[in-house]
Amino acid sequence: MAINNSEYFNPEIETMSREEIKKLQLERLQKTVRHCMNSPFYKKRFEEAGLKPEDIKTLDDVRKIPFTTKQDLRDTYPFGLASVPLSECVRLHSSSGTTGNPTVILHTQKDLDEWANAVARCLWMVGLRPDDVFQNSSGYGMFTGGLGFQYGAERLGMLTVPAAAGNSLRQIKFIKDFGTTAIHAIPSYLTRLHEVMEQEGVDPRKDTKLKVFAIGAEPHTEEQRKRIEDMFGVKAYNSFGMSEMCGPGVAFECKEQNGLHFWEDYYIVEIVDPETLEPVPDGQIGELVLTTLNREAMPLLRYRTRDLTRVLPGDCPCGRKHIRLDRMKGRSDDMMVLRGVNIFPIQIEKILLNYPELSSNYLITLTTDNDNDNMTVDVELAKEGLTDNQLKDLEKAVCRALKDEILLTPRIHLLVAGTLPQSEGKAVRVKDLRKVYQ
Ligand code: COA
Ligand code: AMP
Ligand code: ZN
Repeated sequence: MAINNSEYFNPEIETMSREEIKKLQLERLQKTVRHCMNSPFYKKRFEEAGLKPEDIKTLDDVRKIPFTTKQDLRDTYPFGLASVPLSECVRLHSSSGTTGNPTVILHTQKDLDEWANAVARCLWMVGLRPDDVFQNSSGYGMFTGGLGFQYGAERLGMLTVPAAAGNSLRQIKFIKDFGTTAIHAIPSYLTRLHEVMEQEGVDPRKDTKLKVFAIGAEPHTEEQRKRIEDMFGVKAYNSFGMSEMCGPGVAFECKEQNGLHFWEDYYIVEIVDPETLEPVPDGQIGELVLTTLNREAMPLLRYRTRDLTRVLPGDCPCGRKHIRLDRMKGRSDDMMVLRGVNIFPIQIEKILLNYPELSSNYLITLTTDNDNDNMTVDVELAKEGLTDNQLKDLEKAVCRALKDEILLTPRIHLLVAGTLPQSEGKAVRVKDLRKVYQ
């Protein structure tokens, strides 16, 4: 790799003026739309909307294009949104948090290369260089934080430790033995890691070389970030992404820590009112809608992310003119993100309904206990008279089935009928007592 003394991983792209960014976006949008006509899904969508690729003459014309939703991805499962033949695809990822068919995202080799470049750009932006040691505590496999950060960190040239999720004692050993300087982790896991370091008598300031955290994959507040920074004496930068947009590398904070720079050479960013689907004025909170600009296998046009955020005003002192958005403020659907895993309440309901011993009255509670985020499922029994052993077996079976469905282990409480509060009107199924959005 050539020596790069610049503050920027890709100086040409990162220092573009607004006019240059917009010009590039229009070229790439027109190309993407033409390419999308290879996908039977988009071809039909355009025909139904009476729209032709030639109708996209300006960037504002993106608004003529119908939205794409998670449901569209499920309906076309597994490969219906591909814009290239499958023989040109080299990998797929599938997102957590789906009911029925999962969502599948396809990648060509070029897509993977571009994804690695995007992640490397983010990591470079916060001061990481080839002599750094990068440890990734994401789940690997289908979780895009695994391979996404792996290839990005390698592209930058760092020694990369694919530690994967969990096993905190081993993580700490790696940090010390390999001289890890940077970690990617979900914020709630870093508080767990610190807890184990304390138990082991490891002082991150004295006993490690840690200097940068990339924290993301789940919502968190400014207070949580500051707490993590104070606990470890390490700078923590917000990292935003989602499987549908490749994964990590969509947006990242620069050293100024004043919002997420979305890479506009890769995405067109819109913020819309989730009810009317009309654009909201800059500064107002709305739903993030993203259009991919350089994807080959599976470009997505006006994808409704369901994440709520807003455009931040003013130029960033770092010199990058790529749009800055606030940290995520909530969701416009009922998806919960717990420990970097996406979960819909309906997934839990579906499992509970399989057990005739259980009633349909349940409550999901999300809490932060001793710095760890947890899910408790309280569910009322449909029958009386089960023995203690039967109850234990039932609890175990439900717990196992839920883990298979939602990918993490909840606590289960089986309750006698009538214990859960009755709500007037629509039943309250989820109580999120964590403070993840501010
Ligand atoms: N990242 C890293 N470690 C995690 C984690 C996460 N998101 N969630 C839990 N852990 C750790 C726990 O702290 C515990 O480690 P420790 O006891 O050695 O400190 C270990 O994983 C097991 O936790 P437990 O609660 O017993 O397991 P579980 O049955 O709930 O499943 C995982 C936990 C880790 C298997 C599952 O949540 C997972 O795969 N998470 C990865 C999610 C991810 O990477 N998301 C990013 C997407 S971009
Ligand atoms: P996944 O597709 O599994 O990568 O999950 C993507 C979702 O995780 C996003 O749509 C967000 O809801 C959430 N998410 C990812 N990164 C962040 C972040 N930095 N802050 C808040 N939420 C995030
Ligand atoms: Zn900046």
